[in-house]
Amino acid sequence: MKKILVIHGPNLNLLGEREPGVYGNDSYESINNEIIEHAIKYQFHCDVFQSNHEGEIIDQLHLARKKYDGVVLNAGAYTHYSYAIRDAIAAIRIPVIEVHLSNIHSRDEFRHTSVIAPVCAGQISGFGKFSYLMGVDALNYIWNSGESGEDND
Ligand code: DQA
Repeated sequence: MKKILVIHGPNLNLLGEREPGVYGNDSYESINNEIIEHAIKYQFHCDVFQSNHEGEIIDQLHLARKKYDGVVLNAGAYTHYSYAIRDAIAAIRIPVIEVHLSNIHSRDEFRHTSVIAPVCAGQISGFGKFSYLMGVDALNYIWNSGESGEDND
């Protein structure tokens, strides 16, 4: 059984009450339940982690390299400037799928840049909570297509 870890970055614990016009009305808890249900369809074991702190996200990525087969990561605003998270992703060999609820390319200029995109297996952006589900789909795709997802340097 494949084990996957979903990592939510800063402010995503407030989903449902945070800027609902941008991020939707579904609560953080209900979105996580939907992700886990979706992962079960593929018979993936799925754990969820959230932190508002850069170093804790890096620690989880390091732990994930031994405990999980793949990661779905919404790094929140760290996406746009955290070279430390970028380096952590590059350091591990399991595939990391970058996801965003909103379409970062259609928003503020500073959101158009993802410093983590070059080291992720791919990016899914703009489909609300479905971006996370598609992140799970992407891991399934990688494993079924024989892509290693490791070619991220
Ligand atoms: C986000 C987009 C980021 O620009 C923002 O800082 C977030 C959420 C998204 O899921 O759309 O916190 O990653």
